[in-house]
Amino acid sequence: MNPWAGRQRTIHVQEVAMRDGLQSEAGFVPTEQKVELVNRLASSGLQKIEVSSFVSPRAIPQLADAEAVFDGIARRPGVIYAALVPNVRGMERAISARADEVNLVMSASESHNRANLRMSGAASFEAIKEAASLAAAAGLRVTASLSCSFGCPMEGEIPAQTVQTWCHRLISEAGIRSITLCDTTGMAYPALVEELVGLVRQSSPEAEFALHFHNTRGLGLANVFAGLEAGVVRFDAALAGIGGCPYAPGATGNICTEDLIHALKVSGYQCGVDLDALIGTAKHLEQLLGHITPGQLMKAGPRLAQRAAATPKPAV
Ligand code: COA
Ligand code: ZN
Repeated sequence: MNPWAGRQRTIHVQEVAMRDGLQSEAGFVPTEQKVELVNRLASSGLQKIEVSSFVSPRAIPQLADAEAVFDGIARRPGVIYAALVPNVRGMERAISARADEVNLVMSASESHNRANLRMSGAASFEAIKEAASLAAAAGLRVTASLSCSFGCPMEGEIPAQTVQTWCHRLISEAGIRSITLCDTTGMAYPALVEELVGLVRQSSPEAEFALHFHNTRGLGLANVFAGLEAGVVRFDAALAGIGGCPYAPGATGNICTEDLIHALKVSGYQCGVDLDALIGTAKHLEQLLGHITPGQLMKAGPRLAQRAAATPKPAV
């Protein structure tokens, strides 16, 4: 008997392997392989896929083909094809590539913002305001991601007040309604997740919050369940658990999409995703990258699959 079976809440898992994942890979994945991966992810039932980022190709050469990937994908009705954008130049590129949604990024940590985006937090915020108004005029959906919300590898603790203030300003001055609190280097833990989500929801009740965890210290899925307890229904995750920010020391993989969906399903939540198809795509990605990835379900299988496979066939 599953004690959580009565929950039956729908949880939205937002796929970020194509952006957060591939940006931290040593090699360049060819464009046609990226296109195939996005198409497979969409056909497994994921409703939001971060396809690439429109950043400087010198900063992230792995994603220099963002336009070509957007151009090559088969757009599936109902799927939101998103892109990460750091500035107005990126916004213009996203509009001409016909991204459905832009994820405007800045960091809650001044030091990480300068390392990653080569500008102050204040300058990033001004860029976001301008980019958000361009997006609104062009009819694109807009979200914002606040990196290092749960701590910074360079600055240590980030005061909750700092996160609350940026959220408030993103909403009231940039007109953004959907904000993702990102744990860029896996510094979050469940009690902190519950506390910070509670605080930002209190100070910005009109916003919708999503969570983005990295599993750097093994707390990724525990943090998701803390987020669920706090009422969050949107989580970023990366196929096969790949990922990491090249400009954040010690950053490692995102929480793993198929591991997360399995954990949610066995806990009575709905995600609308075909888990077997996703596992197949995760294995394909691992082969393509040519190295072992952190995902666990693709090695172990879903919890009842092994039992079925091990059951002896009746003698004839
Ligand atoms: N897309 C493509 N090129 C861009 C760009 C964008 N969004 N923004 C700037 N550039 C180009 C400029 O045209 C300029 O090119 P040039 O040297 O050929 O003239 C060059 O990049 C430098 O522009 P500048 O505005 O001075 O940028 P910068 O060097 O200060 O870098 C960012 C600022 C934000 C563009 C860069 O730090 C960046 O792309 N960071 C993203 C890092 C990232 O993706 N991290 C992981 C995800 S959170
Ligand atoms: Zn990340």
